[in-house]
Parts: sequence; C-alpha cells; structure tokens
Amino acid sequence: MKTLKVENLHVNVAGKEILKGVNLTVNTGEVHAIMGPNGTGKSTLSQAIMGHPAYEITEGKITFDGQDLAEMSVDERARAGLFLAMQYPAEIQGVTNAEFMRAAVNARRPEDDQIGVLPFMKELDKKREFLSMSAEMANRYLNEGFSGGEKKRNEILQMMMIQPSIAILDEIDSGLDIDALKVVSRGVNSMKSDDFAVLMITHYQRLLDYIVPDFVHVMMGGRVVKTGGPEMARKLEAEGYAGLRDELGLDIVLTDEDADEDITGGLI
Ligand SMILES: Nc1ncnc2c1ncn2[C@@H]1O[C@H](COP(=O)(O)OP(=O)(O)O)[C@@H](O)[C@H]1O
Ligand SMILES: [Mg+2]
Repeated sequence: MKTLKVENLHVNVAGKEILKGVNLTVNTGEVHAIMGPNGTGKSTLSQAIMGHPAYEITEGKITFDGQDLAEMSVDERARAGLFLAMQYPAEIQGVTNAEFMRAAVNARRPEDDQIGVLPFMKELDKKREFLSMSAEMANRYLNEGFSGGEKKRNEILQMMMIQPSIAILDEIDSGLDIDALKVVSRGVNSMKSDDFAVLMITHYQRLLDYIVPDFVHVMMGGRVVKTGGPEMARKLEAEGYAGLRDELGLDIVLTDEDADEDITGGLI
C-alpha cells in the first residue's frame, strides 16, 4: 500500500495564503472526493501536490510513500506514481498525443524496458476504444483544438496508459454531457484496484453517482472542514455549502461566483 499524506498544509499563491492547514490521507485502494465552493483552494491543493512552482508551501508537508515531496521535482513525483488531470489541460503544439503519452509511460519504466511504438500503439488503441475516442486523436497535437469533453477524455486516456498509483482528477466532470460523464467514469472505475487510489475534485454530487467514493471531504476557506461518506455529498447537493458552513459555525464568506456559476456543468 502507498499513502499520500498532506499534513497541516499552508500554501501561498501570488503572496496570498490560500491553503490554511489542509490535512488529508489517501491510501491506495481508496476512492476519495473533495468537494467545495469556487475559490476555496481545491486546484491549489492539487497543484501543490504535483509541485507547480507558483504554489509555495509555507508550512506543513506532503509525503508520498514516506518521501517528502518537497525534495522531489515534478518529474520525480510523476515517476513515483502521482498523476494530475488538470482542470484546464494545456495544449501543446508540435507534440502528438501518442508521442506525449509514450514518453510519459516510458518515463515510469526502467531504461532497459522501454515500450516500443508498436506494442504501445496496440495498448493505446485498446484503451482509446474503451473510452469511445476516435483513432485520429492519437496523431493530433496534444489537446490542440480538442473540445472540453475531448480534453477530459484524453486526460483519462493518459491516466489509463500511465497507470499511476494515485490520480488526482481536478473537475474531470466539468463541461461533460451525460454520455461523456459515463465514459470518463467507466475509465476511472476500470482502474480501481488495491494499487490505485483516486482523488476526485468536483463541485457536484452527480459524478459520485458513477464513481462511488469511500470518503468525501469538504473544503472551505482553505481547509478540509468535514469528512464523511457518499451521503454527505447528497446532503451538500440538497443544502448547499452555506448550509454546512452554518452547521459547522464557520466564519467564511462564500463568493458571488458560486451563485452565478453554471451548476449543471454545461448540461443545460
Ligand atoms: N496561479 C495563480 N495565481 C494567482 N492566484 C491564484 C492562482 N491559482 C489560484 N489562485 C487563487 O487562489 C484561490 C483559490 O483558487 P483555486 O485553488 O483555483 O480554487 P478552486 O479550485 O477551489 O476553485 C483563488 O482566489 C484564485 O484566484
Ligand atoms: Mg479548481
């Protein structure tokens, strides 16, 4: 079993404290969800775990498999088995999707056991079909001109090819129609094993109908304020974040964007 452990994590972004003492433990074999209103620091947490340089850890620490992540580069973290599907996947011109994924897969394999083009393409085809993605996606430049839904599927395809130990999926459900949501969920569920954990960041309970979490954590004001099971997500959907905030007696202002945001995730 491998463990990702976040202890009393404080993170500054652009000189402002965004995370104010996050505690979280994720073991392989488990499915976790983090929910929380806009601007609360969910993406900041995922970026800090992967080691984005703009996210400065000022207090606390993150360990993976007992190793302090502060001593590891982004590359080393990925090689060790951490994976992040970003909320806004980057487009990279000049590098095809297939080339990018083969390099990522090989980065995690020993030098004398690199996967060749043919066996790689065979595996890619299998997983691509499982995710109902068209063949030409492999030869297009990474995410270039992909629709929002295609980018999300592509992140899942990468995860399935790379086979990380712990995958953080930042709003993998945003902007997906119901069919795409099912496809993405099928991909995630196919990865479930004792050697794999997933940490899904989401606003909405809907995703959790398809990928059932063992633990649901609610983040507000830069902290995990409550942890429960799937029932908590349903309660949140019914009562909103303001309901939980008042129940816990927290002094947090929820931003206006929450009210304005498209809570259907682009469905309507
Ligand atoms: N790279 C950045 N530069 C400046 N501010 C940032 C950056 N990333 C995040 N923030 C700020 O940190 C806060 C938390 O953002 P984020 O972690 O994206 O929230 P969430 O994912 O919960 O919606 C927001 O106020 C956001 O504007
Ligand atoms: Mg976010």
